[in-house]
Amino acid sequence: MGKKVLVVGGGGREHAIVDALSRSPQVGKIYCAPGNAGIGEQAECVPLKDTDIDGLLAFAEENAIDLTVVGPESALAAGIVDRFRAAGLNIFGHTKAATAIESSKDFAKRLMAGAGVPTAAYRTFTAYDEAWAYVKAGAFPTVIKYDGLAAGKGVVVAATPEEAEAALRDMLLDGRYGEGKVVIEEFLTGPEFSLMAFVSGRQVRSMVAAQDHKRAFDGDEGPNTGGMGAYTESFATGRSGLSFISDADYDFAVTKILQPVANAMADAGTPLSGVLYGGLMKTPTGVKVIEFNARFGDPETEVVLPRLESDIYAVFEAVAEGGVIPALDWKDVSVMGVVMASKGYPGSYAKGAPIEVAPAFAERIYHMGTKRTDEGLVTAGGRVLMVVAEAPMMAAAAKRCYAGVSLINCENLFYRKDIAKYVL
Ligand code: AMP
Ligand code: GLY
Repeated sequence: MGKKVLVVGGGGREHAIVDALSRSPQVGKIYCAPGNAGIGEQAECVPLKDTDIDGLLAFAEENAIDLTVVGPESALAAGIVDRFRAAGLNIFGHTKAATAIESSKDFAKRLMAGAGVPTAAYRTFTAYDEAWAYVKAGAFPTVIKYDGLAAGKGVVVAATPEEAEAALRDMLLDGRYGEGKVVIEEFLTGPEFSLMAFVSGRQVRSMVAAQDHKRAFDGDEGPNTGGMGAYTESFATGRSGLSFISDADYDFAVTKILQPVANAMADAGTPLSGVLYGGLMKTPTGVKVIEFNARFGDPETEVVLPRLESDIYAVFEAVAEGGVIPALDWKDVSVMGVVMASKGYPGSYAKGAPIEVAPAFAERIYHMGTKRTDEGLVTAGGRVLMVVAEAPMMAAAAKRCYAGVSLINCENLFYRKDIAKYVL
């Protein structure tokens, strides 16, 4: 009998996790809660919300789940890991306390300052008048971040005092996201990239790097989204997985950023036990931290995990149990993924548009927001699906990926046509 795994979440990230687990020789049965239409082809979907901890715990106990893997930060911040561990269940993900590395920007900033990790200079404010006085006297652009989980929408890069004032009003006076605290940061410049690692206490096993595309439209125009595409490159130009990140930059990011953060979290009594995601920037004065997440990135995971040749179950189990994390082997290919999103996203959008995949389609699809109805597959979210293709070099992967995209027919979807353009 193979291992029984429960994956918590229902987006493209979880689909990629389910796909990676299905390649493990140890895994027998995969459940996913709540999952989605695409995940349902590789796992049994369980109709439980990712924050329904009581329901998930009961399900794991009743079904003798060997290991639960948590995707979204909402479940981690709600304390799913603490609850499962207290019940003696095996789970991959950070405790509620350790999730503060993502859920509180102020906590993350203080931790970085204490550990000497390079990041933008900052100050924290709770009072609107003081925040506004500080911003007004400083340079523009300036960066204003809400101190809490805001579904990726709590960051404003303000080019003018007017924009800054509006953002501060929103975050500190209008209570749009709840309790008000903001972090005001120095504006940094340079290409951004994402570096994730499996972390257990002081052990750090870094993955290959990837680059996300956060703006909605081509040329990095339009509003910020959850991510419209991502890629990771072959080792032809170095070990990092990105041609613009040298081996020295990569080693710096691991030894001077991820490792000291893991150590500082362990020293603080809140050791990490899951994925540490560094949202990093290669600035003219070196690699610096923009943000940390306490989970796999989405859509980065959908391009990074297809490269993982090691048994991901063994990795998850080692992290969950505090054992030695196996070394990671990576396929030497370039992988690119293009997100197809509902027209109107990240604003309001319609759901229920039929999706047809032409028979000639031969790439991977990770579903992000889809539903299976009597009429077939339909859209059910803002980001709907991601087409992912691989090839020895980026240019060929991109060509395959967009050929795949052209075989998906749905009148209510749009996508960016310039994913990976930075390196092509
Ligand atoms: P975050 O949610 O913290 O990743 O911020 C969203 C986006 O805002 C980032 O991907 C950056 O493009 C931008 N950003 C955040 N902080 C800074 C900063 N200190 N300097 C320049 N841009 C930033
Ligand atoms: N791709 C950015 C994130 O997962 O937060």
